[in-house]
Amino acid sequence: MKTYRIACIPGDGIGREVVPAGREVLAALAAAQTRFRFEFENFDWGGDYYRAHGVMMPADGLDALRGKDAILFGSAGDPEIPDHITLWGLRLKICQGFDQYANVRPTRVLPGIDSPLARCGPGDLDWVIVRENSEGEYSGVGGRAHQGHPIEVATDVSIMTRAGVLRILRFAFRLAQSRPRKHLTVITKSNAQRHAMVMWDEIALEVSREFPDVTWDKELVDAATARMVNRPASLDTIVATNLHADILSDLAAALAGSLGIAPTANLDPERRYPSMFEPIHGSAFDIMGRGLANPIGTFWSCVMLLEHLGETAAAAALMGAIEAVTANRALHTRDLGGSAMTADVTQAVCGLLSGK
Ligand code: IPM
Ligand code: MG
Repeated sequence: MKTYRIACIPGDGIGREVVPAGREVLAALAAAQTRFRFEFENFDWGGDYYRAHGVMMPADGLDALRGKDAILFGSAGDPEIPDHITLWGLRLKICQGFDQYANVRPTRVLPGIDSPLARCGPGDLDWVIVRENSEGEYSGVGGRAHQGHPIEVATDVSIMTRAGVLRILRFAFRLAQSRPRKHLTVITKSNAQRHAMVMWDEIALEVSREFPDVTWDKELVDAATARMVNRPASLDTIVATNLHADILSDLAAALAGSLGIAPTANLDPERRYPSMFEPIHGSAFDIMGRGLANPIGTFWSCVMLLEHLGETAAAAALMGAIEAVTANRALHTRDLGGSAMTADVTQAVCGLLSGK
């Protein structure tokens, strides 16, 4: 029997509720078959760790994760610690340290869930957003000078490398090729950003020639928001820069019914390092500790984790259980207008997986 070593990093806020729920669901899956088992290790990194140690994770934290098969992450964010510290000290440290350059965000309206789009029929909204996850607007390059003086200056420099753009566009074309519609929309802003985004467009054209069976189009990021609302069925696979995709993926999640459902994979497609799976929602301090969080975003992230491990049958079984649960409105959490608790949803999914 195969053993998969999974690092669990609940982080802060509702991450501490949804990651244990995800672990329960994975354990239920493992118990229902004999192909594989999980060995979980929990890491208590995040806001409390920062208060005790002055850092979000230990200096050799990446080494503790290196040998794992995958990482299940909750969220990082603390009302008492500046957001850029919690982000750069933990999540980005892992994403960038392990060169998880492809961030994949599927969005679909699941059974039983209403899209706020009145004109959105079944199957009309079925997207995968590919987010460049290693550079661009999140490169961290920049600085401040003259701090505290009237001439203070600050820069955040967006860095785009040919190698970085090539690899994410290739990844996106390949993903588009694997989906039934074989269509990719490349998001750009080359009308205003006349250097890096023009290079991005040029590389998209070059890479498209390697994928003659994939149709593709180009959309300016602002126009893309209107297209997502007005013509959702015209989109399938979407690729965008780090910041553009960050913004588009929140819109996508909201259009699919709730931020509480949306999953993410931070992938190192070359498998040199472990990849990391997490719900896209944040730490949600307003509801933390009350059992109200929607664990579906984490469960769907576990589906992506299983797919990454090559456990496609288990992934399909979990996705089936998720959809059976969302179809039952009595099991909707507060973000979906219901009153179910995290534990109710978790038990329902586990029950389906173990055939109880
Ligand atoms: C996301 C989040 C993060 C990001 C935040 C928490 C910094 O919004 O994963 O989309 O912007 O990358
Ligand atoms: Mg975001």
